[in-house]
Amino acid sequence: MKRMLSGIKPTGQLTLGNYIGALRNFVSYQDDYEMIVFIANLHCITEYQDPADLRKNLTDAVALYLACGLDPNKSTIFLQTDVHAHAELGYIMACNTYLGELNRMTQFKDKSAKGEKNMTAGLYTYPCLMAADILLYDANYVPVGEDQKQHVELTRDIAQRFNNKYGETFVIPEPLIAKVGARIMSLSDPSKKMSKSDETNKGCIYLLDDLKTARKKIMSAVTDSIGVIQLDKANQPGLYNLIEIASALSGRTMEDIVNEYSGQGYGKLKTYVADVVCSEMEKIQNRYNEIIASRQIEKILIDGAEKASKIADKTLQDVKKKIGLEIKY
Ligand code: AMP
Ligand code: TRP
Repeated sequence: MKRMLSGIKPTGQLTLGNYIGALRNFVSYQDDYEMIVFIANLHCITEYQDPADLRKNLTDAVALYLACGLDPNKSTIFLQTDVHAHAELGYIMACNTYLGELNRMTQFKDKSAKGEKNMTAGLYTYPCLMAADILLYDANYVPVGEDQKQHVELTRDIAQRFNNKYGETFVIPEPLIAKVGARIMSLSDPSKKMSKSDETNKGCIYLLDDLKTARKKIMSAVTDSIGVIQLDKANQPGLYNLIEIASALSGRTMEDIVNEYSGQGYGKLKTYVADVVCSEMEKIQNRYNEIIASRQIEKILIDGAEKASKIADKTLQDVKKKIGLEIKY
């Protein structure tokens, strides 16, 4: 069985974008692949997080993974810091990555271009840690949203270079980007990605938003003045995004939805999108509440970390041996 690995960095509450672009796909893959998913808590602290908020977000993220259908009997679910090999291989990967490569990473470039102050060294070397996350597990596929593709490509480059230098060590991973929903846009500004860092809070639906709030955000989503329901991403990006959300969640094609609503007002379509989103969220939230109440998270994470460590420690050992870091007595 091929192995698949992915991580989510819960620097805030998980969003509908995370669900459509990532989480929901993990669930559908877990029957056909050996699935490894982790909470990338080390990646979270590349920017300051309030400790109490961080703790809550980490717990919620695990509960939401489970609520969305990840099954600990089928998938390995763990917290990054519970498997020490991540930080160690992350450092080794940083020693095998060139500054030029890190300078090209768009996530970092965008932040520097915005003139963000207090950018940390951890943020800069983040792709090296991400490479370690992936390579530790000999992952064949890495399901991610569009924004993470560049990081997986860098991982491939680092892995190939390492293999050439030190001999066959790492499996070269492939990014896996879903056709629908790889980039869900903000409801208030469809030129931007729907993101946890949305300052207005209107463009982003959080999976734990109350359903009324979620509905309101969809009903007031920015569209256009063209007034025709059709698929024109360039001129009607807001409308396109809404149809994409509904298509991803309902399993209907975007064309099918357009056919049903063409000739009608945007309000009707928005109501449909809100119905689809709220019904999915309601199911997730009900399961989330059960999981939090059942107090099973800790045990799941301990078991997950134990399984993950067995694979990760072996890879790290092999890497250290190949590099010459070990002294044999
Ligand atoms: P992040 O929230 O940045 O840690 O992302 C976690 C996963 O969700 C990654 O695979 C992202 O590519 C994916 N993701 C985040 N935001 C979106 C979005 N707006 N649309 C689609 N996928 C997303
Ligand atoms: N960088 C990813 C994000 O921001 C999270 C992540 C960390 C990840 N390590 C990973 C994703 C390894 C896939 C594989 O979303």
